[in-house]
Amino acid sequence: MTLVYSLGGSVLYQQSLQEIQKFAANLKQIAKDHRVYVVVGGGNIARDYIETARSLGAAESFCDLLGIGVTRLNAKILIAALGEFAAPEPAETYPRALELSAGGKIVVLGGMQPGQTTDAVAALLAEYVHAKKLIVVTSVDGVYSADPNIDPGAQKIRRMTPAELVSLSMGTRLRAGSRSPVDPLAAKIIERSSIPTVVVYGDAKNLRKAFEGGHTGTEIS
Ligand code: UTP
Repeated sequence: MTLVYSLGGSVLYQQSLQEIQKFAANLKQIAKDHRVYVVVGGGNIARDYIETARSLGAAESFCDLLGIGVTRLNAKILIAALGEFAAPEPAETYPRALELSAGGKIVVLGGMQPGQTTDAVAALLAEYVHAKKLIVVTSVDGVYSADPNIDPGAQKIRRMTPAELVSLSMGTRLRAGSRSPVDPLAAKIIERSSIPTVVVYGDAKNLRKAFEGGHTGTEIS
């Protein structure tokens, strides 16, 4: 089956080498039986760069382009870890991603255009390649009613509909480097194409559990 992963930048990069290797080993294993695409986020490095540029007076779209640059650097770290199992460059368009995957390689991407996050890239890609599942791998173990880092009363939502995801994400700010389960554009794409989506915590074991079952995250369908 075709799987699209949205891998938060901090899930991948703020980790030890061993953790990155664990993610890569799991992806290689999964790619033996499935067509795999991975969209990598910018993590704290993107946030730091964006914050610095914003403080210097840069426009939000300038900050977004800066963020995209960082996501592509992070994508290259994953490509390095995957070695010959991955296409050698982050795909910069959806048709190119599809083309690269035809050779059986894992295709790794970063961001695409300003005004969104890599979750939206992953949702658009999942739509484009008719993925069976979109798997959002984040630093939180699912979708919560509020930000669990801020609100101690936040409740994990185990199952939700795409429409519910849309209304939840609409409440978050669209700003370069902002934190949210998925951005509003990603939620709208998931809704318009009814893309089965899972949000799981960034543990390498969850890469498989997200589509085979046994995870403790959120199922959106
Ligand atoms: P991320 O996808 O990592 O954003 O892209 P995020 O959701 O803020 O980070 P995580 O998921 O919590 O780690 C980093 C930044 O790059 C820009 C945005 O500014 C985003 O905040 N970006 C990324 C774009 O403008 N377009 C894209 O397609 C992707």
